[in-house]
Amino acid sequence: ILISGNGTNLQAIIDHQKTHQSLYEVDAVISNNPDAFGLTRAKQENIKTFVTPSKNITKDLFSTQLCQLVSALNPDLIVLAGFMKILSPAFIKSFPDKIINIHPSLLPKYKGLRTHERVMENNEKIHGATVHHVTEELDAGEIIGQFIFKIENNDNLDMIIKKVHQGERLLFPKIIEMLSNQSIKIEDGKVISQSNEIKVPINLLAP
Ligand code: GAR
Repeated sequence: ILISGNGTNLQAIIDHQKTHQSLYEVDAVISNNPDAFGLTRAKQENIKTFVTPSKNITKDLFSTQLCQLVSALNPDLIVLAGFMKILSPAFIKSFPDKIINIHPSLLPKYKGLRTHERVMENNEKIHGATVHHVTEELDAGEIIGQFIFKIENNDNLDMIIKKVHQGERLLFPKIIEMLSNQSIKIEDGKVISQSNEIKVPINLLAP
């Protein structure tokens, strides 16, 4: 699992594995930020941690170091859980069909940063989070699942951010579980669910 910050998604993934006895196991946590609180969370769970600093280093060198580290770990799945660096094309090509990311918007809308602010500015009626396959184009790989909620009239920015975070913590572990039990697969960049008729395999709606 690659992180850059707080690691609430990481924690949800760890907790879900424990409470559901899921097939997956978090083997290692890597951060580009040495101060990421997610590293502390991982250590508390006895998960091995690594820091590949992205500061004061060229993008190419960062990418090479990260690629070497991840290759040595030989993961089945690489999970970007609040990882705020853009992965290089070389990195992405090295791990085909193996990288997934969580993004705080209903992709394909609101790629990039400041998603919640832009949603509010545009008076959107719905918001949510997306887990998608990672390709070389930013936030553009096939969608695996989304969490969707209605924005209420009295919702402010803080409230919608909180709702997105709550939804992410439900959505992300569920998708990782489905990838580990192969009820969803990623093959040649395509997301395949057991039922081919479902375009987005997971669609979680807030109550
Ligand atoms: C999450 O909301 C995630 O969607 C977002 O960062 C947050 C990380 O929180 N990711 C991105 O914006 C990626 N472009 P966390 O560290 O508490 O899991």
